[in-house]
Amino acid sequence: MKILAISGSLRAASLNAMLLRVLARVAPAGVEVTLYPDLGQLPLFNPDLADAPPAIVRALEQAILEADALVIASPEYAHGVTGAIKNGLDWMVGNESFINKPVALFNASPRATHAHAALRETVCVMSARVVEAACIVVPLVGANLDEQALVHDAAIVAALRGALLALREHVGGSTADVMAQ
Ligand SMILES: Cc1cc2nc3c(=O)[nH]c(=O)nc-3n(C[C@H](O)[C@H](O)[C@H](O)COP(=O)(O)O)c2cc1C
Repeated sequence: MKILAISGSLRAASLNAMLLRVLARVAPAGVEVTLYPDLGQLPLFNPDLADAPPAIVRALEQAILEADALVIASPEYAHGVTGAIKNGLDWMVGNESFINKPVALFNASPRATHAHAALRETVCVMSARVVEAACIVVPLVGANLDEQALVHDAAIVAALRGALLALREHVGGSTADVMAQ
């Protein structure tokens, strides 16, 4: 199973990006997690360009199409989602990459309820399938944990692996559904 992981933070020391790097490190055999590296390089969305988007936008669309599932971890800025993640999502509205795509939303801060809800609403209206059992809150903001500590934190590793297993179950189920049709 191929997972594309997208952090909505461009910060070098981003906790959301760290969580996704740890997800890649603790993924069980057969689950490949790739972090999307170019969110900050995307141009600002302009509907005038949507019919012939720049190569970097087409590359993101292709990466999403090729992934079995997405994991999005994004912080809250002023009770909204970050401009970076909204910009990336806006570019994908006009193509089919999100349609029926299983998505897990990770939240690195229990306080960030507005952004989490907004993100859920946006991906749902883009026709993605939010996999509830794979959506987790990992309280990292203020916890002062580095990547190495996270990899050795049994509860966090269990939550991350649990999310991946829930995604795998969903992806397997979806494939079976499609094959049965
Ligand atoms: C401009 C700005 C606005 C923020 N607004 C909120 C907010 O409304 N609610 C919240 O819970 N945290 C807010 N935060 C805190 C961030 O969510 C927190 O710093 C988080 O660690 C950022 O994610 P990152 O570490 O992945 O960059 C804000 C941070 C910044 C820089």
